[in-house]
Amino acid sequence: MQRDRWPTRLTFLFAAVTSAIGLGAVWRFPYLTYKYGGGAFLLPYLIALVVAGIPLLILEFALGQKLQKGAVDALASIKRKFSFIGWWALFIGFIVISYYSVVMGWSIIYFFTSIGTQWGDDPKAYFFNNILHLSDSINNIEGITDVVFIALVAGWIGVYFSVWKGTKSVSKVVNFTTPFALVLFLIMLVRAVTLKGSMEGLIYYLKPNFSALLDAEVWIAAFSQIFFQLSVGFGVMIAYASFNDRKEDISKNAVVVGVATVIFSILAGFIIFGTLGFMASSQNVPIEEVVASGPGLAFVVFPKALSLMPFASFFSMLFFLILVTIAYDSAFSLVEAIDTVIVEKTKMKREAIALIVCIFGLLSGIIFTTNAGLYFLDVIDHFINSYSLVAVGILECIAVGWVFGAEKLRAYVNKVSDIKIGRWWDYAIKYFVPIVLTIIVAIQLTKEFKAPYENYPQWAIWLGWISVVVPFAIAFLIPQKNIQKKNIEL
Ligand code: PHE
Repeated sequence: MQRDRWPTRLTFLFAAVTSAIGLGAVWRFPYLTYKYGGGAFLLPYLIALVVAGIPLLILEFALGQKLQKGAVDALASIKRKFSFIGWWALFIGFIVISYYSVVMGWSIIYFFTSIGTQWGDDPKAYFFNNILHLSDSINNIEGITDVVFIALVAGWIGVYFSVWKGTKSVSKVVNFTTPFALVLFLIMLVRAVTLKGSMEGLIYYLKPNFSALLDAEVWIAAFSQIFFQLSVGFGVMIAYASFNDRKEDISKNAVVVGVATVIFSILAGFIIFGTLGFMASSQNVPIEEVVASGPGLAFVVFPKALSLMPFASFFSMLFFLILVTIAYDSAFSLVEAIDTVIVEKTKMKREAIALIVCIFGLLSGIIFTTNAGLYFLDVIDHFINSYSLVAVGILECIAVGWVFGAEKLRAYVNKVSDIKIGRWWDYAIKYFVPIVLTIIVAIQLTKEFKAPYENYPQWAIWLGWISVVVPFAIAFLIPQKNIQKKNIEL
């Protein structure tokens, strides 16, 4: 059977870049930058990009492209038992997509309620009470919130129709959404930086605080942010690269994806902080008072700031449309990674596989649409990102660096790429990245045992651990048949 192919190189780049650029860029990145010392965070962030992000991206691109397989069979080609790394990556992706799609659902809701900026004067109450109907603790699940559930279903229908024909449908979608989102983004950017008071926001955002560099936590945050953003460790980039011709350039593609993502994130920070500066100045309060994190930033503080602008409805719709679009491209990339593997493993039709994966994704997202949904999201997101994702990164480095041979994969990369990568890459994959990631996990673990994450009850913490351990155990138990290795040599 002929393998799926991207129609052009640009389409592949669009798909990879839009998978990387998502809620991580507009939500997490600006807040982290603020939290960890403003402009000084950029330095660890950029270092993480160069020494770990791009090397791992090269690794995943090379693996998928050379072996022409999705995550499971690509890793199994190195050593049969390594199939579990691939399965684990996919399970992690599945868990992430189940809540990521819910946040996409909130964005869809906000796109519509932007008409007439319906959150009014109290966007906080609007978000937590009117939209989420958030209960007072994770112990009170109560029931499903209808609007969120409906938005979730809508989101999944969109996801289904972008992956149902594999690269064919994905190509059509990204060829449209990439330029589309870019134009919207540029309009929003110009608007934000020309608002009165935006300068104060930007200064606040970029003012370096070099003492932050001495704090281990800043470095940890920078590395995990880069991994999450570049979508490595989920099998996504392996799957996407496996639809390239084996002679396609690798290192240039990795640099383009890495750099584009980082530039986008930094500019997203301009939008966020420019607008917050404007809000602070129009309310005559210091900017510290208006900054917030996570869901609070995109769905509470930002709506408030938007409603103070001239043409508030228009710019609100614009902002949430950007959020929906970038979340959407990331969401279906996770599904595509899973579909790719199942297509290789079964004889089922792609459309049927996609439908089943989407239905399961929708069902497992229901818990996040309950009145306690936000709490569940917070717990699961924390455990998955702090442990599972990082563990897969370490395992991939070991599989490629030590068992397959970093030199061997690098030789392949250099054969097909314009930018030749040096020996440093072998060291990065064999030593540096796995060691840094191990340190990150170790530090995180000690924190975990000192105090329960965000003071959640013990059972919720257990649930977090279960979300890490059970997928791993299942991945480990899935048998792997011998696969043809004829593709290994180029
Ligand atoms: N990179 C995406 C973001 O920053 C999230 C994502 C992770 C998407 C993994 C796909 C795979 O939002």
